[in-house]
Amino acid sequence: MRIDIITVLPELLKSPFEASILKRAIDADLVEVHFHNLRDYTTDNYKSIDDTQFGGGAGMVMMVEPIDKCISTLQAARDYDEVIYMTPDGETLKQGIANQLSLKENIIILCGHYKGVDQRVRDHFITREISIGDYVLSGGELGAAVLCDAIIRLIPGVLGNETSALTDSFQDGLLAPPIYTKPREYKGWKVPELLFGGNFPKIEKWREEQAYLRTKERRPDLLDD
Ligand code: ADE
Repeated sequence: MRIDIITVLPELLKSPFEASILKRAIDADLVEVHFHNLRDYTTDNYKSIDDTQFGGGAGMVMMVEPIDKCISTLQAARDYDEVIYMTPDGETLKQGIANQLSLKENIIILCGHYKGVDQRVRDHFITREISIGDYVLSGGELGAAVLCDAIIRLIPGVLGNETSALTDSFQDGLLAPPIYTKPREYKGWKVPELLFGGNFPKIEKWREEQAYLRTKERRPDLLDD
């Protein structure tokens, strides 16, 4: 998989890809991540990427031309499955979206800034608009990092134990059940006895029940879908 991220602040984005699981995935050639600075696609001496709104109103708007030049350059080199725009008014990121995107070959992610991009960018280039939640960030970069993390960890071979992504919260529409490790007892706090018996069908049933109870208590909305 290849991910191309278009941003005015590459330095804000890079560190998550230089540590932990994302770095391992890149080093193992399971994913390529490329950063493109929008200012490299500007045409004036000031390297302008934004301007005031037509019709008046507070806040600057990202101009169509540098974005067109950047996306068109990428699209001339290869086909893209999706051109994603990170924006608070996009569809809210859910596990299902990460699952779908993890199966793609090439995607572009455009990070918005200021008031956002000229609507013509959205009309003519963008295939999908994604928000990471109902709050406004100062730019799309942190959202793009969240989206990339959610996608990349699902690529086969990225997580050490292949089954561990399948047992994440949300993968079966439920939150994950409680988990325990050694010691069996700490300060008198005991691990549920049934986890020691080696009765795996019983343990599996207990985990399913716990996942259901936890979901019912914390996220009843998930049970409605
Ligand atoms: N840019 C600004 N706010 C955002 C959000 N909530 N999700 C994605 N991109 C954003």
